[in-house]
Amino acid sequence: MRRPMVAGNWKMHGSQATNQALLAELEGHVRPDWPIDIAVFPPYVYLADAVRALEDGRIQVGAQDVCAEAGGAFTGQVGASMLKDVGCSYAIVGHSERRRWYHEDDTLVARKFAAALAGGLKPVLCVGETLEEREARQTESVVARQVDAVIAMHGVGGFADAVLAYEPVWAIGTGRTASPAQAQEVHAFLRSRIGAHDAKMAARLRILYGGSVKAGNAAELFAMPDVDGGLVGGASLSADEFRQICAAAAVHH
Ligand code: PGA
Repeated sequence: MRRPMVAGNWKMHGSQATNQALLAELEGHVRPDWPIDIAVFPPYVYLADAVRALEDGRIQVGAQDVCAEAGGAFTGQVGASMLKDVGCSYAIVGHSERRRWYHEDDTLVARKFAAALAGGLKPVLCVGETLEEREARQTESVVARQVDAVIAMHGVGGFADAVLAYEPVWAIGTGRTASPAQAQEVHAFLRSRIGAHDAKMAARLRILYGGSVKAGNAAELFAMPDVDGGLVGGASLSADEFRQICAAAAVHH
């Protein structure tokens, strides 16, 4: 019912030479008949190159962030319409590294979510709790607050063209992944939170899990009923790992 998605968040890694090699290898690995969406998220400066390298469109391209403003005097920023112009389909908003290192709060993330939609991109909204918050049993209140901020600003309608990603902060880049049961619990909670506003939309919404997803754990995570794929960091830099993660998602469509 929901088409799985596997998204590769490259973060601040790569060079022209390594990207070219990685994309060529990926294109060779990815099977055209897999009933899933696949996207890679290279750093800004490499986006146009990635779009050109992936010309047949089987693998889509997205940005890791987007400016909340539509355009104008905002030195250093890149707007959604520019990303669309160079061929991007998605923009990640609210990644925990942006929230933590660049002090992005729920309001700014909600504005970025709207800016992505207005510019013709599908936002990939990231939510997730820190270890302290989980230990204090605040997981649900934290992810609810993060999702509610978007709904409060724009209504629930934007989720029709968006993807949600649950990324527990303690699982990102740590090698410590959430168990399938832990992921399922939060995914089901998020779906019901959105379902309280619009049940049909919530049933169609893709909710990806992110945080130390790799070839070895993807299948058990994707087997969970509310886990519709993965947002993959470190493992997306290896064509072979990424292929295996995509293959696992293709089985659980
Ligand atoms: P990781 O990163 O797979 O390296 O844990 C996931 C993410 O931050 O999107």
